[in-house]
Amino acid sequence: MAERIRSFGLKLFRSSKYLYKTQYCRRQNLSQDIRHGIVGMVGRYVILYYFRTPLVRISKLSNETGCEILAKAEFCNGGGSVKDRAAYYLIKDAQEKGQLRPGGTVVEGTAGNTGIGLAHMCLALGYKCVIFMPNNQSQEKIDMLKTLGADVTLVPVVPFTDPNNYNHQASRYAESLHNAVWTNQFDNTANRLAHIETTGPEIWQQTDNKVNAVVFGTGTGGTLSGVGTYLKEKNKNIQVVVADPQGSVLYNWYKHGKLERSEGSSITEGIGQGRVTENMKGAPVDDVFLIKDKDAVEMTFRLLHEEGLFVGASTGLNVFAAYQLARSMGPGHTIVTCLCDTGQRYYEKLFKKDVLQQKGYLENLPKIYWKYLH
Ligand SMILES: Cc1ncc(COP(=O)(O)O)c(C=O)c1O
Repeated sequence: MAERIRSFGLKLFRSSKYLYKTQYCRRQNLSQDIRHGIVGMVGRYVILYYFRTPLVRISKLSNETGCEILAKAEFCNGGGSVKDRAAYYLIKDAQEKGQLRPGGTVVEGTAGNTGIGLAHMCLALGYKCVIFMPNNQSQEKIDMLKTLGADVTLVPVVPFTDPNNYNHQASRYAESLHNAVWTNQFDNTANRLAHIETTGPEIWQQTDNKVNAVVFGTGTGGTLSGVGTYLKEKNKNIQVVVADPQGSVLYNWYKHGKLERSEGSSITEGIGQGRVTENMKGAPVDDVFLIKDKDAVEMTFRLLHEEGLFVGASTGLNVFAAYQLARSMGPGHTIVTCLCDTGQRYYEKLFKKDVLQQKGYLENLPKIYWKYLH
């Protein structure tokens, strides 16, 4: 009964938002499909499906496995990545808590994509943006942040337990300023809420409630945890699977209960963890895959070659994991993952022949894909 009342209330709330939007558009003589600035270009489920990112069928892999392998095209968000959703919710959270007043400063520690989302929104909303970033991330993301007016500080890569970790530096810097907030994407659960309220419902609607499993690599864990939480409430049989890169602790954590890093390190950016973040705590995880870089990189090129999808390596990892899951679940299942961002953010790291050769990735990459290297 309580669930029915809640669901009725939610429908009423969404309808009222829809009616408000319809009336607003009529008053302004605007099409309902017009988005309100960069903030309106972040995937956001509303009743008649406006604002959501496309769900793309990965055709060859689907045909091969007999499953529907689908991916949310998160690079279609206004700032070009899945992290725009978190960025919008983190700013909204700071505004609602009174931590950020007009003209204030948003400070974040980020591998780049959350920073890019925040920087776009700060420009649109009139805030300053300060980013602390590990110094091993792609030059393209650093350049983009600077172009978007963010103040970027690159810091050496050290573990979270070290006071000089980029997150602690961001936190201390925000504390030293007046009218500033450290948005704290890893442990502020407004991040997960973005995916409970938007990505999860979008996937549920776009698959006509037929989704059987979701699989994502995790950085903060916001995407996996938020989507998983929402979908499990809809149907507890939906499988929620973590795809972990080399050198992260989550594979050993979910398999053996130990916070031990798996072997190696990864070319992927934005995913892999050394701890269980607040966003990840309590996530309804059914299984975990350890995905090798070799497979993530090969899938990144396969997506380009077979589907014309130009994406980064964390997307290659996601789609390889979805493919592996499809093969283990067997034909007839609907599996959803996400296309996190585009390959444009990784030209120098992922699409250059000499760089791939230096790092030992070239020898494992089938020759048919070499023509995409420059
Ligand atoms: C390219 C990319 N993919 C995936 C993720 C992971 O998303 P989440 O932080 O929601 O776990 C990130 C996070 O920064 C990212 O930058």
